[in-house]
Amino acid sequence: MAAADVLSSTSTPMWSTRSPSPDPSPASVNDTFDPAKHIDFSPPSRVYTMKDIGFPEDTGVSPLAVTEPFPLFTPSAVMRMRQEVLSNDVMTNCLYSSNLAQAQLRGYADKYAPFVYDAWKSATTQHIISSIAGIPLTLQFDLEIGHINLSFKTPEQKQRELTSMSSSSSTTTTPTDDMPIVGWHRDSYPFVCVAMLSDCTDMIGGETALRTGTGEILKIRSPQMGHAIILQGRYIDHQALRALGTTERITMVTSFRPRSPLARDDTVLTTVRPISDLGELYYQFAKYRLEMLEERVRQQLRDMVDAKTAGRAVATRKLKAFLSEQEEFLGRTNREIVEEEFVVKGAIDH
Ligand SMILES: [Fe+2]
Repeated sequence: MAAADVLSSTSTPMWSTRSPSPDPSPASVNDTFDPAKHIDFSPPSRVYTMKDIGFPEDTGVSPLAVTEPFPLFTPSAVMRMRQEVLSNDVMTNCLYSSNLAQAQLRGYADKYAPFVYDAWKSATTQHIISSIAGIPLTLQFDLEIGHINLSFKTPEQKQRELTSMSSSSSTTTTPTDDMPIVGWHRDSYPFVCVAMLSDCTDMIGGETALRTGTGEILKIRSPQMGHAIILQGRYIDHQALRALGTTERITMVTSFRPRSPLARDDTVLTTVRPISDLGELYYQFAKYRLEMLEERVRQQLRDMVDAKTAGRAVATRKLKAFLSEQEEFLGRTNREIVEEEFVVKGAIDH
């Protein structure tokens, strides 16, 4: 969907006609990604496991539920990312809107944003994310590198919000879960890393709210600029709460899945089908699923031939279990690929 379509499809434009400045600093304009220069990682102060928040330990594909925000990228890395993300090419060609979130930029990294692309492809970055998740992870696929959620307001809107907050009778007023910017949902992909690209100094709210295993709400505070959180969002209901007191909020969401082709993969496409170039999405999804299957078949074949060579009979039960598992895997893969004519743009069924 073009930028103009999104703007005209909402009765109250959600951002001013002036897009925020990418804050270019001349020295950084042509920087390429360098982990030594652009990563500034410190471990999260707290990591919540599935068990910590009331879910069975085997709820997801690793023990991790969610982290507190932690430093990940340097200010100069954030500035480079903003330059790329807010470029004309990206804003014109990669803007999508849905009933879950009004403005998102998707599928731009490999075309228009080499710095963003390299930042997430980096072995250093992936090692950091994997070590926190407690399982070796890889990028979901290129289309999901650096998905952007955008929220822009005018300075007047920001001031009105702050005034109404400060005149409120309660000093503890915070945005509640009836004010989400992205409604309750589960992600399509096992893990997300959500990095903040905006200055949130004056921000109120903007937390990620999670529904725990006991039905309570756990709010994870929003990361500051350059910081991130990791969430196993495929398995936990969550929503992004509205942020007040800022003119813009730009979050970058990058999705991950287990690296091993033998690992359980519960990826679905529910939340992304209506906001994706389907030709690209189905190609990238089917490609990695078929590569997983290829590797699984190769290993099973090798085991079977080795056993035969060693004079052992075929392990019937094991063979049938393997085949059943792959039938189910292929079935799930097939069902996620919904024909184009049945996909309604922007309508996410959650
Ligand atoms: Fe999510």
